[in-house]
Amino acid sequence: MTDSPTLSTTPAIRVDAVSKRYGRTLALDEISFDVRERELFALLGPNGAGKTTLMHILSTILAPDSGVAEVAGSDVVRAALEARSRLGIVFQEPSLDDRLTVRENLNLHGLVFGVPRKLRKERIDEMLALVELTDWADKTARTLSSGMKRRLEIARALIHDSEILLLDEPTVGLDAQTRNRIWGYIHRLQAELGLTVVVTTHYIEEVENCDRVCIIDHGKVLAIDTPDTLRNAHGQQLLRVVPATDQDRADILQRYADRVVHRTGPEIALNSDEAFVATFLAEFGTRVVALTKEVPSLETVFLSLTGRELRDRAADVRERTAAFGRRGGEHTR
Ligand SMILES: Nc1ncnc2c1ncn2[C@@H]1O[C@H](COP(=O)(O)OP(=O)(O)OP(=O)(O)O)[C@@H](O)[C@H]1O
Ligand SMILES: [Mg+2]
Repeated sequence: MTDSPTLSTTPAIRVDAVSKRYGRTLALDEISFDVRERELFALLGPNGAGKTTLMHILSTILAPDSGVAEVAGSDVVRAALEARSRLGIVFQEPSLDDRLTVRENLNLHGLVFGVPRKLRKERIDEMLALVELTDWADKTARTLSSGMKRRLEIARALIHDSEILLLDEPTVGLDAQTRNRIWGYIHRLQAELGLTVVVTTHYIEEVENCDRVCIIDHGKVLAIDTPDTLRNAHGQQLLRVVPATDQDRADILQRYADRVVHRTGPEIALNSDEAFVATFLAEFGTRVVALTKEVPSLETVFLSLTGRELRDRAADVRERTAAFGRRGGEHTR
């Protein structure tokens, strides 16, 4: 037998036509993608898109109805233990033992995964340092802040020397500063430890620095590529306007019917370019209370792929326009 040239190209994760149904809900609909070794790969999708279902299948705790998923070449159903040993996992739901100390939580995990005592101690100290919890080692987990608990869960996922890290919404519900800090660790894990990282999120701004982004919605893959390529291929330039009155709204919708991409609450999003902005201002400049130009972004990629916003813009817009008077208010650009 000759050395197989395909060996080095085995993807870290392979998902091939995986489907999963819960009763009448088709949570995953023949999803396929590969994650390369050492890649930082983001799964981006709104609530209910199927992200956690996919993470559970990759974690070997849920079997797909059909299709194949492999972790480091091991089938998650037929070789679940082998697959599991290569993975570090941070679940969406918190899963620490609140009564144990930080160090005890890590030690217990090491014991479960059969990490020898001396190595366990070394790994625990190394990982505590990495997530900056060394000073908290002997505190009970219950006393940590939400951000610290998340950092402890990331450290725990790495005690058994896993090479692929699955993170399901590691930053959900955390403040912006804590979210940035957690992303700092994620980038370090990829760069310094050479880990493959698969992370789910519904915060679009978080995936800008990932190697590739897989956009999923209703259990289907809509697009997979680098953030730049996605922006170039699917991003639209938008003009978002909030008409001053119902009549203004009706007139804008009628005049530019072929440009309307989306309507959210009081806002209308129009397909745009520089020439169109000037035209619009000349015609309706005094008939809107807010106007925002939006360059192609992952937000507009998501909008053009799904026809929906990922985040709740209606609430954003209500907040933004609450400060404006009625007709002829100041414009935001
Ligand atoms: N145990 C379950 N029983 C029934 N339906 C489920 C179950 N788990 C998930 N679902 C449904 O499957 C779909 C996908 O859910 P999933 O949790 O995978 O989505 P998600 O992308 O992780 O969402 P979120 O952003 O809210 O975490 C949803 O419609 C959800 O309601
Ligand atoms: Mg989820």
